[in-house]
Amino acid sequence: MATKKSKSNKENLMDNKVWGGRFREGTDEIVDRFNASIAFDRNLYSQDIAGSIAYCRMLAKQEIMSQEEAKQIIDALTEIKGEMDRGEFSFDEASEDIHGAVEKALVGKVGSLGEKLHTGRSRNDQVSLDVRLYVREAIGRMIALIKDMQRALIGLAEGNLDLILPGYTHLQRAQPVLLSHHLLAYNEMLKRDRQRFQENLKRVNIMPLGSAALAGSTFDLDRAMVAKELGFDEITKNSMDAVSDRDFVLEFLFASSALMMHMSRMSEEMVIWSSQEFGFINLPDALCTGSSIMPQKKNPDLPELVRGKTGRIYGHLIALLTTMKGLPLTYNKDMQEDKEALFDTVDTVELCLTVMTRLFEEISFDGERMREAVKKGYLAATDLADYLVGKGVTFRQAHEKVGKIVLYAMDEKKELDQLNLEELKTFDEQMEKDVYEWLDPALCIKRREIHGGTGPKGVKKRLKEAKREIET
Ligand code: ARG
Repeated sequence: MATKKSKSNKENLMDNKVWGGRFREGTDEIVDRFNASIAFDRNLYSQDIAGSIAYCRMLAKQEIMSQEEAKQIIDALTEIKGEMDRGEFSFDEASEDIHGAVEKALVGKVGSLGEKLHTGRSRNDQVSLDVRLYVREAIGRMIALIKDMQRALIGLAEGNLDLILPGYTHLQRAQPVLLSHHLLAYNEMLKRDRQRFQENLKRVNIMPLGSAALAGSTFDLDRAMVAKELGFDEITKNSMDAVSDRDFVLEFLFASSALMMHMSRMSEEMVIWSSQEFGFINLPDALCTGSSIMPQKKNPDLPELVRGKTGRIYGHLIALLTTMKGLPLTYNKDMQEDKEALFDTVDTVELCLTVMTRLFEEISFDGERMREAVKKGYLAATDLADYLVGKGVTFRQAHEKVGKIVLYAMDEKKELDQLNLEELKTFDEQMEKDVYEWLDPALCIKRREIHGGTGPKGVKKRLKEAKREIET
């Protein structure tokens, strides 16, 4: 599309700019279109206004403006916030960004007094503050949503303590485990996700105002007061770093990526488990979709989409890492690219968390199918080797013997517990009747009361602890 050349009526064209003074010409239309972030950073309006209100109180306390002036500004900002909340505010697409849009609206309400608010502040420290407030709120919601999913999982684990299924390695049947142990493995993953967001918060909750453009401000700003007003734990210690740091966003994107990776793996298992081949779970009709051509189909679209969206979140992390990698100190406009990545991550991850929790709340298990699966595939082979070790055989020898027994059983088209004692004795004379106790899947599980193992007592204990952990 052809772009209009610079326009002559500068006065008119600079109306929306917060930096018009040193310019002789109006801005080319392509600059406005390319440079503006208002289309997406309007998302930050409540944080921007909250930051401005705290900053304004501080300016008044420091006598940089009068109490009366501050009151007028704060009242007007509160009004603007209300208009934005109610969707009544018409965002001027010509405003460059949310900071300019709010300032313009403020001047519209209180006249040139509104122009005092930016004293000692730059959009560089302002945007850092806004994004920090935004990420802090997002972390709060993430943690609450992760807890909801943990509760759903713990509920499932508690309600299905009697079910067993094959545990897999390499997606090959390996050893019998309690379903609850499997579900509590998901809980551990989510616990680490929560910890990552909590860790992230330490780097997010630091107040940058006072850094101004990059070198700090000449005004006697009470930075600690602003931090306190806005609930920050600390203030930034280097103005140059403060305006150029987006590590806290990157960490958030990484924590989100790891969480998505976990949800994707859970989704993958739901897809596999709901297949006819496995048939371990039933997803409710209400959470599945059909096919436009194959009348029999019931497809697990929700977990598939969670798995699919994971790529997008990784993309945002890699995109911002790449954006940041070549930037000299301090602020560079490249950094404006952090926002769409961040906003989409928050929206997507929140939705995925909600969907996964719904799925876990409504999923049901086919205990019979799982038990059947445990019976086939020689899942007790390790226990049989352990049994022989109990008779004094070294583990390597026992492993070799049981390997041979498995081969024999395969040839005979039998499972291990279908071999009679005579057959077993041909491999090792020390086999006795009690060997069958080592071949029963329920007993294989019971024998694993080691800390962190699938033994029922241990799993019940972990279940209790896990419940308590969520409430802390
Ligand atoms: N829209 C900008 C951003 O998101 C705000 C900061 C702009 N600062 C500046 N000096 N142009 O990064």
